[in-house]
Amino acid sequence: MSTILLTGGAGYIASHTAVVLQQAGFRVIALDNLVNSSEESLRRVAQITGQAVEFIKADIRDADALREVFNRFAIDAVVHFAGLKAVGESTQLPLKYYDYNVAGTVTLCQVMAECNVKQIVFSSSATVYGAAAEVPIHERAPRSATNPYGQSKLMIELILEDLVAADPSWRVAVLRYFNPVGAHESGLIGEDPNGIPNNLMPFISQVAVGKREQLQVFGSDYPTQDGTGVRDYIHVMDLANGHLQALRYLQKHHGIEAFNLGTGQGYSVLDMVKAFSETNDIAVPYQIVDRRPGDVAVCYADATKARQLLDWQTQYSLVDMVRDAWRWQRQNPEGYRQID
Ligand code: NAD
Ligand code: WQD
Repeated sequence: MSTILLTGGAGYIASHTAVVLQQAGFRVIALDNLVNSSEESLRRVAQITGQAVEFIKADIRDADALREVFNRFAIDAVVHFAGLKAVGESTQLPLKYYDYNVAGTVTLCQVMAECNVKQIVFSSSATVYGAAAEVPIHERAPRSATNPYGQSKLMIELILEDLVAADPSWRVAVLRYFNPVGAHESGLIGEDPNGIPNNLMPFISQVAVGKREQLQVFGSDYPTQDGTGVRDYIHVMDLANGHLQALRYLQKHHGIEAFNLGTGQGYSVLDMVKAFSETNDIAVPYQIVDRRPGDVAVCYADATKARQLLDWQTQYSLVDMVRDAWRWQRQNPEGYRQID
C-alpha cells in the first residue's frame, strides 16, 4: 500500500482528496499548521471512509518537523496543497505569501530530496495564465501573474521545473485548478472559509443560509452573454479524483507535466446564482456592483491533456455542484467551528 503525505491536509481540497485516496486503498498522512483549517475536517473524513487519517500539526517551513515526518513514515509521494490563497490579502502581505507558498515549497522539496522522496503533485492554479489571450486555455498558453498569490504559484512552477532539469529522477505533476466548488455528497466536509468569503460559491451559500444579506455581483458589463464574469467551476470531488489519477500517472512517468483540471465549460456569475436558487429552491438576493479590480472576463480550461494522459474526466454537473455546496452549508452553517 502506498503512503501519501498531504501537506495542507486539513484544508478544503485536501480533505476531499483524502477521501478519494483512502477509498482507493492509499494510506494518507495529513500535515497542516491549521492556519486556515480545522482538524475536525479529518475526523469527518474518517467518518466517511471508516479509516482514521494520521494527522501531524506542523508547518511546511519547519524543516526539522518535516524530517521527523519523513523518518517516521515510509512516504511514497507528496500531494502539496499547503499554502495561502487569498488574492486580495496577498497584495497587502506579499512577503507572507512568498514565505508560506514559495519558501515553504522550497523547504519541503529540500527535505524530500534529502529523504529520497521525489514524487510530488503540486496544487497550482489557473491564475498562472494571468489574463489569457485565448479561451479555452491550453497548458501551453503563456504564463503571467497579476498579484503576489499568482506570482507565488508561478514561481513554484518554475522552481519545480528547475528541480526536474537538475535531477530528472523527480516525478512532478503540476495541477492547475480552475474554480473548485461543491462538497462531498455526504455534506460532512466542504469549504469553510475564515471570515467574509472571497470566492463566489461560498458567498452564495452564506447568503442562502442567511449569514449575509446579499451577493454583490462584480460587474455586468463584461463581453459575455449576460455581462457577468465567466469561469470554469469544477466539483471538488472531480478535482480530488484528478489527484488520484496524477499519482497513478507519476508511478509510470519521470519528469514534470502540467495539467489543467477544469470541466472545459464556462458559466457566468448569474448562471451560478440561477442554478443555485433553482436547484435548491432558495432565494439568493443579489445586487450588481462595480467590477472587482484584477478580474478577467472569461476563463475556462482546455482539459484535453488531463483527459488523455491522466485518463480523467469530470463526472459532476453544475446541478451537483450547487446541490452539494448547499447541503454542506445547510448542515454546517458555522462550518467546522461548532464542534471545535
Ligand atoms: P485551504 O486554505 O482550505 O487549504 C490549504 C491548507 O494549507 C489549509 O488547511 C492551511 O491551514 C494549510 N497551510 C497553509 N500554510 C501552511 C503551512 N505553512 N504549513 C502547513 N500547512 C499550511 O485551501 P484549498 O482551497 O483547499 O487550496 C489548496 C491548495 O490549492 C492551495 O495551495 C491553493 O492555493 C490551491 N488552489 C486553490 C484554489 C481554490 O479556489 N480553492 C484554486 C487553485 C489553487
Ligand atoms: C468567480 C466569479 C467574480 C465573488 C479565484 C482566484 C484564483 C483561484 C480561484 C486560487 C468572478 C465573481 C465573486 C463575489 C462576484 N484561486 N464574484 N461576487 O476570481 O475566478 O478565482 O479563485 O488559486 O486564483 O483568483 O474566483 O470565486 O473569486 O470569482 O461577482 O462576491 O464570481 O467577479 O467573475 P476567481 P471567484
